[in-house]
Amino acid sequence: MVEASFISERHSARQFSDRQIDRDVLNAILTEAQQAPSWENSQPWKAYVAMGATAARIRAAHERARKDGTKSWTEVVPPQSWGKYPASNIADWQQHLQQDPHGDQLGSWNGKLFNAPAIVYITVAKDASNYSAYDAGAYGYGILLAAAERGVSGIPAFELVRYPKEIRAEFEIPDDESILMGIGLGYPVDAPVNKFVTGRNTLDQVAQFKD
Ligand SMILES: Cc1cc2nc3c(=O)[nH]c(=O)nc-3n(C[C@H](O)[C@H](O)[C@H](O)COP(=O)(O)O)c2cc1C
Repeated sequence: MVEASFISERHSARQFSDRQIDRDVLNAILTEAQQAPSWENSQPWKAYVAMGATAARIRAAHERARKDGTKSWTEVVPPQSWGKYPASNIADWQQHLQQDPHGDQLGSWNGKLFNAPAIVYITVAKDASNYSAYDAGAYGYGILLAAAERGVSGIPAFELVRYPKEIRAEFEIPDDESILMGIGLGYPVDAPVNKFVTGRNTLDQVAQFKD
């Protein structure tokens, strides 16, 4: 069972040390995450895990692509508009980032893919519905919580999937799967960028209760 403390204490780390995650630990994290609920137990996710030299090659290719100004794209297209409520939360996040004394290094660590020693790429079927995305999100969050339980930090990041070619060059990902999201995993260094911690809206901004 996931303890409440893992939920409330987890936050994204964006600069990892070179320390590798033991394969046993990765296996345990990914096995536990498979307990995620899904539509009729469809378990619509697949995971491709880059570690060691593979993760290093992907990080280097990514840094080169960013440096060369290679145009990025993603296999799952983000929305043109987010809707009023999420858009206002994003605006708050951007303002927080600008004002936070630890926020200025976020961009450069994105460019280095956070030096993540392990990167989990989550795919879904190419024509997947929003319900499969919901299920895959539960799986991804399960990975983050199962990692936190084992002292491993994580970052789910769009940045990780912006150059799908660098990922497909390393794995045999079938054409009928789309790379939905990447999660960087590792051990955080004690650095300012890892002290960027976000808040959340209050319960009454989110939920209505009625009896
Ligand atoms: C789908 C998704 C995409 C994200 N993409 C990025 C990204 O590209 N770069 C980044 O630094 N953080 C990224 N994040 C991390 C969010 O900014 C972070 O989860 C959010 O601000 C809440 O902070 P916390 O994870 O520290 O609680 C992403 C998170 C999600 C769920």
